[in-house]
Amino acid sequence: LTLYLSKDAAALALGADEVARAIAAEAAARAIELRLVRTGSRGMVWLEPLLEIERDGVRHGFGPLEVSDVKPLFESDSGDHPKALGPVEAIPFFARQTRLTFARCGVIDPLDLDAYRAHGGMRGLERARGMAPADIVAEVTESGLRGRGGAGFPTGIKWKTVLEAEGPQKYIVCNADEGDSGTFADRMLMEGDPFCLIEGMAIAGLAVGASKGFVYCRSEYPHAIRTFGVALDVVREGDLLGEGFDIELRVGAGSYVCGEETALLNSMEGKRGVVRAKPPLPAHKGFLGRPTVINNVISLASVPVILAEGAAHYKSFGLGRSLGTVPLQVAGNVKHGGLFEAAFGMTIGELVEGVCGGTASGRPVKAVQIGGPLGAYFPAHMFDTALGYEECDAAGGLIGHAGIVVFDDTADMGAMARFAMEFCAVESCGTCTPCRIGAVRGMETIDRIRAGDPAAPAILADLCETMRDGSLCALGGFTPYPVESALKHFPEDFMARKEAAE
Ligand code: NAI
Ligand code: SF4
Repeated sequence: LTLYLSKDAAALALGADEVARAIAAEAAARAIELRLVRTGSRGMVWLEPLLEIERDGVRHGFGPLEVSDVKPLFESDSGDHPKALGPVEAIPFFARQTRLTFARCGVIDPLDLDAYRAHGGMRGLERARGMAPADIVAEVTESGLRGRGGAGFPTGIKWKTVLEAEGPQKYIVCNADEGDSGTFADRMLMEGDPFCLIEGMAIAGLAVGASKGFVYCRSEYPHAIRTFGVALDVVREGDLLGEGFDIELRVGAGSYVCGEETALLNSMEGKRGVVRAKPPLPAHKGFLGRPTVINNVISLASVPVILAEGAAHYKSFGLGRSLGTVPLQVAGNVKHGGLFEAAFGMTIGELVEGVCGGTASGRPVKAVQIGGPLGAYFPAHMFDTALGYEECDAAGGLIGHAGIVVFDDTADMGAMARFAMEFCAVESCGTCTPCRIGAVRGMETIDRIRAGDPAAPAILADLCETMRDGSLCALGGFTPYPVESALKHFPEDFMARKEAAE
């Protein structure tokens, strides 16, 4: 009898280890032999801890499980169990997905290399080993893959720049400093399928001629750090990276701006994590001044399937210039939150209302914020916007790293706008004035608007323009997105004097 239970951080937080212990104790008491495989997460966070029992090759789900639910599992036909969900892959939230990047996440033991291979792992790297670097770059370019960290720059073009750059040493740096609110795709991938990221980095190394890779992971992800570290040991023992490539894991120290690529490089070099001016691009002068590919976790983890299945397969999904799939992460006040990998093109409404069932509170959805703390608020009347780079941009926002935070009609959008300025003030690296000082003035000006000062709205508009045009990086430059979208769509929330956000 084989059972599967997630050990993803979200499942652990909801009691997965306690459930695992109860299963082991119950099985021992009844002298039943079973194999409990600890997996990553299927992404259905509201069902965690989600136990899966395999029967005739089909996995049947039970969740969200509590310790008290374990005994009845052993007592009767478990299909009658009050937490029985039926075949996991038929649960609508799962069945409606297109799992390319997250195909193995929640399915296999993340540290079992044989299982990784059995589920299609290493095929991309094996193919890449037989290709010329320029051909690997061409395949990735052809796939249409764009940077999943948020900016959407074509990955193949970035790799081509590094391939063609002169340098005695080149590097691959994976940005796992996933700081956006409501995002967890990088974490889930590193905890649930770390070999996939390692394989993607090894392919990137072959493509551009880099012999060394780094993963820069935020310190707030202890489980991802641990799992990825063990995965690195496993591939080194199995000599799977080959002689010419190795990866080192570096851990950040809690700064949001260190997710910005040049601040990240400074941090890796042991310097203060402040933003560098571009140019030079990291592709030309990156880590230690050498040509460096910096890609997000999901960008790199999408590469193995592109090489394994071919660019044409990958780009057969998507919409317009947003090709392939994107792991949409839905959080906040939502009934069925989690990670939903889908081809680009689904509308906000289909996802939030159709797939995720609206709010957890049962009240109407007032708005969603897409793209983290620097992303715009979309009101319900814009829920026909398709989730794609150009489509979100045309609607006055950004898809970013595809984090979607849901708010119900009790949310105070004036307070959220103030919070955006406060977040910018707290996290600013201090290099440029519009961000360092502008964000503080922004908080004060929003307070003045909410106090009824008729001169303040024009000052805020002017300030937002200065921040947008005069900031060196996205932190100062994009903070106007949440502020102006909140003001535009919810002006009534700025009229009444309300408590400012903490
Ligand atoms: P950017 O537009 O300046 O650059 C995008 C990427 O393309 C960079 O890696 C840059 O070096 C590269 N690039 C640009 N031109 C190139 C060329 N000709 N050749 C090779 N490479 C080239 O955007 P930036 O500032 O790196 O990222 C901003 C985005 O980050 C925002 O859209 C936001 O959504 C996202 N973000 C993500 C967070 C997360 O937690 N994942 C947190 C905060 C922001
Ligand atoms: Fe630093 Fe803010 Fe300027 Fe970015 S915009 S470089 S975070 S001061």
